[in-house]
Amino acid sequence: MKALGIDIGGTGVKGAVVDTKKGRLLTDRIRVPTPDPATPAAVADTVASIVRHFEWTGPIGCTFPGVVRGGIVHTAANVDNSWLGMDAATVIGAATGCAVTVVNDADAAGEAETRFGAARGLGGVIMTVTLGTGIGSALMIDGTLVPNTELGHIPFRGGDAEAWSAASVRERLELDWDEWAARVDDYLCLVERLFWPDLFIIGGGVSKKADKFLPKLTCRTPTVAATLLNQAGIVGAAMAVHRHRSLHGTDGQSVRSKKR
Ligand code: BGC
Repeated sequence: MKALGIDIGGTGVKGAVVDTKKGRLLTDRIRVPTPDPATPAAVADTVASIVRHFEWTGPIGCTFPGVVRGGIVHTAANVDNSWLGMDAATVIGAATGCAVTVVNDADAAGEAETRFGAARGLGGVIMTVTLGTGIGSALMIDGTLVPNTELGHIPFRGGDAEAWSAASVRERLELDWDEWAARVDDYLCLVERLFWPDLFIIGGGVSKKADKFLPKLTCRTPTVAATLLNQAGIVGAAMAVHRHRSLHGTDGQSVRSKKR
């Protein structure tokens, strides 16, 4: 099974065609800078340019860097606020002419790492933390995702945790690796005290440089880099196309209907 996986981030929109059974990219990965301002129309145009590049007409799985329930965007910390309340799948579908499924970016990475990456074959409580423009989190329990956990927004050090220890903070404040690793460590220790995971998986572009900061972390939870590295979002996005049928459109309705 094939799908085009698109990973919309605060700084880049990445895409590749993915074999969703094997979790492998079937094409090169291309990256286009996220438009500024990252409005729905501008981001949808960027996605459409990637679709044209691959001459793609099949289904698209797309990540979004905010809470997405049943295709509707509920938060947009690192893209334009005009996304709030939008049906992202419809907006991107109209620009591309393809069937689109949209999920949270960290959730997509967590799903991909669980099926094909660092947590393959593992049960228990596994927390993927993506360190990028913001901080994303994906909580998996025995292989099942608890979506939209948003642990980058835990109040920490006088603001959101992501404002203290996202990868973008290292670049913006020109922190050296030791200084930034100490911030990441503080944050992970906090998450550990709240969730007691069996494993942390660190994703995001910075996972390629894991040797610079992972050895400096002190929390008791075993911590590994995402093995799909910065492809986890693309692979997870494409996987969502086939998961979509069971989840799409629920937005809480299935819970409500069960109560009746
Ligand atoms: C958003 C999350 C997202 C993370 C990484 C946060 O600011 O609220 O939904 O997963 O950034 O992009």
